[in-house]
Amino acid sequence: MRVAQMSEEMGEINMCAIAPHGGKLIERLLPRGENAISVKTDHVVVVDKWTLSDLDCLAIGAFSPLTGFLGEADYQSVVESMRLTDGTVWPLPVTLAVDPFRYQGVRPGDRVLLRGEDGVDYALLQVESCYLPDKQKEASFVFRTTDEAHPGVQKLYAKPALYLGGPVEVWRRPEPERFGDYYLTPAQTRERFAANGWKSVVGFQTRNPIHRAHEYIQKAALEIVDGLFLNPLMGETKSDDVPAAVRMKSYLALLEHYYPKDRVLLAAFPAAMRYAGPREAVFHALVRKNYGCTHFIVGRDHAGVGDYYGTYDAQHIFRQFKPEDLGIQLLFFEHSYYCRSCQGMVTAKTCPHDASHHIALSGTKVRAMLREGQTPPPEYSRPEVARILIEGMREQEVRSH
Ligand code: ADX
Repeated sequence: MRVAQMSEEMGEINMCAIAPHGGKLIERLLPRGENAISVKTDHVVVVDKWTLSDLDCLAIGAFSPLTGFLGEADYQSVVESMRLTDGTVWPLPVTLAVDPFRYQGVRPGDRVLLRGEDGVDYALLQVESCYLPDKQKEASFVFRTTDEAHPGVQKLYAKPALYLGGPVEVWRRPEPERFGDYYLTPAQTRERFAANGWKSVVGFQTRNPIHRAHEYIQKAALEIVDGLFLNPLMGETKSDDVPAAVRMKSYLALLEHYYPKDRVLLAAFPAAMRYAGPREAVFHALVRKNYGCTHFIVGRDHAGVGDYYGTYDAQHIFRQFKPEDLGIQLLFFEHSYYCRSCQGMVTAKTCPHDASHHIALSGTKVRAMLREGQTPPPEYSRPEVARILIEGMREQEVRSH
């Protein structure tokens, strides 16, 4: 009787669980014990932290349905039409760039050992494709600009000129102990969501500390779904973004004081930040679907940088896709801030007062305040968060002197 009841419940959970992108979770992490020693390879490529974080996302299934780095046909298709050659939506190229002179001898069929800068062997690439990308074209399609001042474009141009594509097999995750309990895989988050009985889960991407505007849109979303998946990006970001370790501390303080414990799951998203605005918003949504989210939040200037994208471009891009091609429900929010007259967080949709009633500080202004040890107003940032950020900035300054 109990077994029957359990399997009925499990059936219900399975039915409600959202399918990963492309239908099933593609994990490329080999079971422990299977490693490089037994494998004969033709070349060794040392990969930087950025590539290692992509490799990690491939390993754990965050990038399902990708099995590895994009080959030429998929790359061209992704750049031009935001789809893999089989039609699956995939907005950002995930590529492995190597020096064309050093690796001119690499051929399809070769096996390449991918080694970290720390000297650790992480993965094996089965080469299927070697090609020279048109980076200007990639930049203008993916970032909507070829301006080298754009951090994503700068990164792209700085990469070596030869791309190697093919499936990977990963032996170990980088820095597995870095965020301890928060280093969850999509399979693990799916299990947690099911164990919590959450049938609907909203994913939240961030590369910043959580301020009141973030909190407002998260909680507004949480009013209509069962759980919030707070999934801060912990891979490489611009040097003036707040370091991952300080942010992690600030998230924990915020959750402790202001969120119901049984409604939130916090986990690190290991990817690097591209700053590709609209395309990255689509990418962020699909990846969170892989983690098991049914909904995803896109607010103002999602994944944007400087003035490269319009405030709501990252929302408008979703109009290009049929809902079934995405398979995750988007929750769009307008620019949010505190209104003194409404005495609460608002947007232009919910508040009749003009800007003189609002507390909306720019990121630059807030960073300057924090650097000087000043706490931003509580209507902008929770004091517990501000204190951690001030402390983090002080430590950073001490270290840089
Ligand atoms: S991002 O690069 O990861 O998008 P950030 O961490 O600032 O940057 O934003 C996380 C999410 O919150 C994004 O969906 C973004 O659009 C949204 N967001 C940030 N600030 C605001 C705001 N003031 N009002 C509405 N949405 C916001």
